[in-house]
Order: sequence, then structure tokens, then C-alpha cells
Amino acid sequence: MTGKLDLFDPAFRQDPYPFFAAHRAAGGLAPVDPIGAWLATRYDIVSEILRRPGDFSSTAMAGAALQVREGEDGPPPMIITLDPPDHDRLRALVNRGFTPRRIGASEPRLRAIADDLFTAVDAKLDTDGECDLMEALAIPFPLRVIAEMLGIEAERFEEFKRWSLAIVAVFGRIPDAAARATFEASIDALGEYLERKIEERRREPAEDLISVLVEKEEEDALTPDEVIGFCVLLLIAGNETTTNLVGTTAVALLENPAELEAVVDDPSLVPALVEEAVRYASPVQTLFRQATRDVEIAGQKIPEGAIVMPSYAAANRDPERFPDPERFDVRRNTQGHLGFGQGIHFCLGAGLARLEARVVFEELIPRLAGLRRRDARVDWSDSPFLRGPRSLPLVPR
Ligand code: HEM
Repeated sequence: MTGKLDLFDPAFRQDPYPFFAAHRAAGGLAPVDPIGAWLATRYDIVSEILRRPGDFSSTAMAGAALQVREGEDGPPPMIITLDPPDHDRLRALVNRGFTPRRIGASEPRLRAIADDLFTAVDAKLDTDGECDLMEALAIPFPLRVIAEMLGIEAERFEEFKRWSLAIVAVFGRIPDAAARATFEASIDALGEYLERKIEERRREPAEDLISVLVEKEEEDALTPDEVIGFCVLLLIAGNETTTNLVGTTAVALLENPAELEAVVDDPSLVPALVEEAVRYASPVQTLFRQATRDVEIAGQKIPEGAIVMPSYAAANRDPERFPDPERFDVRRNTQGHLGFGQGIHFCLGAGLARLEARVVFEELIPRLAGLRRRDARVDWSDSPFLRGPRSLPLVPR
């Protein structure tokens, strides 16, 4: 592989891993096209960038990755785009909504949502002889989970889904005029809806996440704008990520029948499967940081203001850290993988994502053993940031 890596090269999007290996072999920290951002592909370098938020600021994410309007009428800065101390204040407040106890308590609802969707999957396989796993399960499942967590009324769910999909559609992509217009209309409609909801929950708290978020904590509370910004972030950070995890794990299992058989025979391997899938497929492939001063890392000088892209995906396939990294192995030691990030921005939803994936795979795995992919080629998403199949039609074996 020669020449400078281009993140929008179709061959890269189809299979980025050989490109990462070549980049890593050449030092693991070098600018890539199209914007000349410094891509980091070595585990030790990626980890160091994530653990030095003072030198590598997250504010770059606001403009570069989240195509969210800044300024007066846009949502306020989101936690993922903030540095300390603003980040830490917000993180402490939103953590209350994601305690292990709260997440654990949601398991019966998650199972009920999954059962409902699997009934539809089975019916579709029966009547049509095939089923697109993304459309029938991987997309609606996390959306319904987040909608329920937020306390969206069942009759507003379809509307909520439309807004969410329109918002997610522009993340990390260069949207055309139509997608941008739909995005802006959706964010306005969702903002207005949430404003009313926040008011309601302030007056009359319920058992949902919005009620937790508006609660006062030692005289500090999220402002309505901060709650709205956080809810919009949840849609982006919590939906397509989990959708991609379900899709990529299914692809990996179908491509590695011995691993599928191992989990069919021993369902207690499901949590290990989920961890290995996050390492192997990294649903969030990379995000952004910006150098706050001239910094030196791994012997390279990065100038102040440079955009840096720590690749969780490439780090997770670094042979220096994970022996035989291209092998999908549900029994491997995945400790230290960077699929959920590291340091102060470590994924707030990791516990929820792990539970969602466990619930889905406990039901999906016995079915997968009797299914195969309809198409030889996987239709991968066109984003270099979030990677997963756009569709995954399955047919009986
Ligand atoms: C497989 C699914 C998921 C993956 C792979 C994933 C991955 C990540 C990664 C890599 C980061 C770190 C970003 C950084 O370094 O700047 C992150 C942060 C975050 N994630 Fe997740 N995520 C997933 C699911 C979720 C879910 C389900 C939620 C919530 C419902 C969520 C909410 C967040 C939030 C709020 C942050 C920002 C935390 C902060 O800035 O302090 N994620 N996620």
C-alpha cells in the first residue's frame, strides 16, 4: 500500500484494516487525507492521546464530527466536545442517569423490546424467506431503548424515530442540502418537544432519565439547554453505535462458524463475545482531538492547532497489544481494548451497550446457526467514523 491514506477512499471504507496496518508499520502517527488530520494507529500512541486531555482537546469534535449547528439557535456544547473543568461538571451530573443499578433495572424492559422485535424477525423469515437484520432489529432496538429511557410516549415513537434517524444521518458525513434541511427541521422539532417534556418533568418527576437529569444535585443542575444537548448526543452516541455493534458482530459470527458454534454450545460466552466484537469491529472507529500547543508524542512533533484522530479501531488491531489481532476469537483476553475509549471521555453508555448486546445476542445466536448471508459482499456504511453494515439480509441456510 503506497501513497497517503484517504479516509474517504471506497477501498478503505470496505476494509480499513490493511490500511491501518500499513500506516502503523510506517510509524503509526502521520497526516491523512482529506483534511490532513494526524491519524494515530498504534495502541500506545492512541492511548496516550486519550489520556492527555490537556494537550489533546475534545473541542475539535464540535465542528469536525458533529454536524451540529453552533451559535445561538443550535444546541449547547455536548459533553463529548468539552474539556475539563466543564466536562467534569457535566459528566458528574449525567452519570446519575447511568449508574449500574439503573442500567441493571432496565433489563426486563430491554428483553421485552427484543422479544417484540424478534417476533417480527421470525415472521419475516417465515413469510418472505429473508430478513434484513439491520432494518428489523439492529436499527429499531437501541432507538426504542433510548426512547423508553427518556420517557418518550409510545404514540410519539414513530416521530421520535424520524427525528433521530435524520440527526444520526449527518453525523460524520458531508450531508447534501436535503439531508441538512431535514436535520435542521428535526433538531428544532426535537428541541421543542424536549423543552415541553423538561417542563413537565420539573413539575412532576417520573421514573425516566429526563426526570433524573433535571433533578438538582447540591445546588447544581443541568440547564434545560444542557439537557437538550445531552439528549441529542444520546441519539448520536447511543444509536448508530449499538446498531453497528449488532450488525458487525453478526457478520463476524457468520464469517467465523467455529466461534458461532462455540457460543451456541456455551451461551455463558456471550459477554466475552460482546467484548471481542467491540475490539474486533470497533463500531466507533475514530474521533477527533486538537493539539492545544506544540506537542511531541512518539518522537513526532505535532503543531499547536493540528487535528488528531486517535483510531480506536486501529489500536484494537495492534499486534503489539493483541496477539494475532485479525483473528476473531471469543476466548481471547480483550482487556484494555479501546472500543469504548479511555480516560475522562470513556463511553458513558458502555454498561448499557453491553447489556443491549447481551440481550440481543442471547436471542439471536440460536437463530444465527440456521441462517446465512444472502449476499456475498457486505454493504458497509460510508462513514470513516462509525462502521457497520447498512443492510444485512439473512436467509435460512
Ligand atoms: C457499542 C456501542 C458503543 C460504542 C462502541 C461507543 C463508543 C464510545 C467511545 C469510543 C467514546 C469515547 C469518545 C471520545 O474518546 O471522545 C464514547 C463516549 C460516549 N458514549 Fe458511547 N459507545 C457506545 C454506546 C453508547 C450508548 C448506548 C450510549 C448512551 C446511551 C453512549 C453514550 C456516550 C456518551 C454520552 C459519551 C461521551 C462521554 C464523555 O464525553 O464523557 N454510548 N462512546
